[in-house]
Amino acid sequence: MKILVTGGAGFIGSHTLIELYKAGHSAVVVDNLYNSNPEALRRVAEIIGIESIPFYQTDIRDRAGLEKVFAEHQFDACIHFAGLKAVGESVEKPLEYYENNMNGTFVLLDVMRKHGCKNIIFSSSATVYGDPAQIPITEACPKGHCTNPYGQTKSMLEEVLMDVQKADNEWNVVLLRYFNPIGAHESGRIGEDPNGIPNNLMPYITQVAVGKRKELGVFGNDYPTHDGTGVRDYIHVVDLATAHVCALKAIEKKCGIGIYNVGTGHGYSVLDVVNAFIKVNGVDVPYSIKPRRAGDIATCYCDPAKAKAELGWEAQFGIEEMCRDSWNWQRKNPNGYRG
Ligand code: NAD
Ligand code: WQD
Repeated sequence: MKILVTGGAGFIGSHTLIELYKAGHSAVVVDNLYNSNPEALRRVAEIIGIESIPFYQTDIRDRAGLEKVFAEHQFDACIHFAGLKAVGESVEKPLEYYENNMNGTFVLLDVMRKHGCKNIIFSSSATVYGDPAQIPITEACPKGHCTNPYGQTKSMLEEVLMDVQKADNEWNVVLLRYFNPIGAHESGRIGEDPNGIPNNLMPYITQVAVGKRKELGVFGNDYPTHDGTGVRDYIHVVDLATAHVCALKAIEKKCGIGIYNVGTGHGYSVLDVVNAFIKVNGVDVPYSIKPRRAGDIATCYCDPAKAKAELGWEAQFGIEEMCRDSWNWQRKNPNGYRG
């Protein structure tokens, strides 16, 4: 299939491009490079062994820009990663988040419809469950109250996409609710490259390990978990990437609406991750306990059985490989794509 990948220069998009080509698909990337570097696409092409990935530096809110892309290519489906994703920033800049994520998706859907491309995989998030009603979280678990605008955009866009499919059953919509993606391609050539101080646990750990930050702050050790620190379902980004390839097969079979958790089903605490990282990589990660971070929940991990049963997808990598590959990327690229 020929796939439009919005946000394809980003962390998850770049890894997904490799798995798409491995599975025999081809892709065109649209990205405004707000949170990414074109070097990622150059390296993706190098890993795949092709000259370049077709790329448009275009904002998905730019209708004329998107029209041009659709005029030049006929797509079978879109994988829609483009969006702003920093939870804390979304609390400070709600309008920017609503505007980018909602409007961007509205323009994209409208242009897709106009060009007869009615297949989409949407990057949703475990955040839509809020403080989950049950653990492990199944897809039947009700969506919760999202405490931040970022999460609200994901939850609302899920509703929008379901309404679009309900109104016109030529659409096939797969909502993938990612848990906590970490890790990197085994080559160490591509990986997560946050701007400024990392918000998420693994990039913070790797920056401490490489000497860019003094110590990790562990946000709270008084949660009702086995060691008091927050528990999450970390998933290797390459596993996450292959879930998109499996979702495309469901789209080919005209799945209508499909909603899937994409996680491993295992919960690891902050200290479990820190200790696994130290053990696997033989590097030190100094840390100290800090107060809880506002909006955090104690425990979040999924039941991934539905994705296995219906998409034939399940995670292959464990926490050791995630820690190994995150470190391999960071130590080879201490300043990310900035050299
Ligand atoms: P990322 O920031 O690395 O990638 C997103 C890409 O979208 C970036 O390259 C950015 O430049 C681009 N972009 C943003 N707004 C755009 C616009 N208006 N037009 C064109 N391009 C635009 O993030 P990621 O971690 O790869 O996440 C990909 C998707 O998955 C996002 O939608 C994110 O919300 C979702 N998600 C991520 C996580 C996570 O922890 N990384 C978890 C759940 C869901
Ligand atoms: C994981 C654990 C922290 C940093 C976020 C978004 C979610 C999704 C994935 C997009 C928690 C602890 C963290 C640090 C720490 N993204 N921590 N010190 O909060 O589960 O999920 O990313 O959709 O929507 O909310 O991920 O990596 O920030 O935190 O102790 O410096 O690590 O308290 O327990 P989170 P995270």
